[in-house]
Amino acid sequence: MHTQVGIIGAGPAGLLLGHLLHLKGIDSVILERRNREYAIDRVRAGVLEQVTADLMTRTGVGARLHREGMRHDSVYLSFSGRRHLIPIAELSGGKAIYVYGQNEVVKDLMDARIATGRPLHYEVSEVSVHDIGTTRPRICYRADGEQCELTCDFIAGCDGFHGICRPALGDAVTFYDKHYPFSWLGILAEAPPSSDAVVYTFHERGFALFSMRSHKITRLYFQVPPREDINKWPDDAIWDEMLKRMTTEDGWKPNVGPVLNKNVTAMRSFVTEPMCAGRLYLAGDAAHIVPPTGAKGLNLAAADVLLLGRAIAAFYGTGTTDLLEEYSDTALKRVWRTQRFSWWMTQTLHCSPEGNAFDFKRQLTDLDFITGSKAAMTSLAESYVGLPMDTEF
Ligand code: FAD
Ligand code: PHB
Repeated sequence: MHTQVGIIGAGPAGLLLGHLLHLKGIDSVILERRNREYAIDRVRAGVLEQVTADLMTRTGVGARLHREGMRHDSVYLSFSGRRHLIPIAELSGGKAIYVYGQNEVVKDLMDARIATGRPLHYEVSEVSVHDIGTTRPRICYRADGEQCELTCDFIAGCDGFHGICRPALGDAVTFYDKHYPFSWLGILAEAPPSSDAVVYTFHERGFALFSMRSHKITRLYFQVPPREDINKWPDDAIWDEMLKRMTTEDGWKPNVGPVLNKNVTAMRSFVTEPMCAGRLYLAGDAAHIVPPTGAKGLNLAAADVLLLGRAIAAFYGTGTTDLLEEYSDTALKRVWRTQRFSWWMTQTLHCSPEGNAFDFKRQLTDLDFITGSKAAMTSLAESYVGLPMDTEF
């Protein structure tokens, strides 16, 4: 079997790349090791930047996002018992964020893929890549009990942080890594959101975050020690802690309701440089991880894929390899800018076990400065809604 682009991983990055390539008439085969239900049920990201929403709209997969997603023109920073509104749209020339679950994005992209009739194989195993230094790289895998081989012009490694593509890049890559001394405990709750904007809270008991998925479902997180055992947290204890951290002086607090889902996520910053070797190109979490405090991982994955899709389209359109050669450098500029913002949000809003009373006061002063200065709020707003990017494809 041969295809133009072999895509490993059917998360947001792999599915979006397949979609963009289809729009340019380029063949691809998408291989995914999990089943469809896993991809649809997995609760992860919720915030899309304006450019990600624009890209989905422009490429014909944004209809449900505009119907069911929630456009937010502001966010709150909450500290010392008060919520401070940051009017992100007003400060960024009209850009907003869209609250729309990653699983909904995946569902929309899956439907678009199925409508094209192009191959999307779930539950493949033993995936490996070979000959990436040649013009005929290969992917070997097992599907339905059979050993398969797919030759490709290019391979896109969209297989997330624990995939096989990053290790296949070889020795000529450098990894930049940072672990944080805390994790997030996240829940989905059947409770109408009590705020129409996302609330980031800095509290002496630690960070907490209020978000949502719909008019009936609230999404909440709070900081816990690294590798915290979720079984230590019965629902009542979770609500008790959420309310302690989030309730403000004016009595604002999240609405309480049945917990539908709960999990613990480790926090990490990670970058691979360069993001390619030979004809193997990484995109999304396969290449980099940001701590979720800036709500950037899925958005960075979409930005990578736009660049990679353009570069591959240019290759087939005019034979030029310039964009492919520039792909890693161009993507990494955005990656590092986003790493800086995600790190800054993380260290400003969390209580580090290595920190002391000085750090707590310094962080409070930082938040006081930001919410008291239009220039500082504008800087935050510009990063939060996302760096500018031309979404034409
Ligand atoms: P993934 O979603 O990890 O997809 C990779 C796919 O590859 C998976 O389906 C996997 O099964 C498959 N795969 C792995 N190995 C193989 C293999 N060997 N063969 C075949 N397939 C394989 N980002 C935001 O932008 N906004 C947010 O608000 C936000 N909030 C977040 C909150 C939390 C709690 C977490 C954990 C993350 C959050 N993120 C957010 C980050 C976002 O979820 C990720 O950045 C995003 O999933 C990256 O997409 P991806 O396609 O690169 O990788
Ligand atoms: C979410 O809604 O899941 C969410 C919101 C903001 C973040 C991270 C996650 O920074």
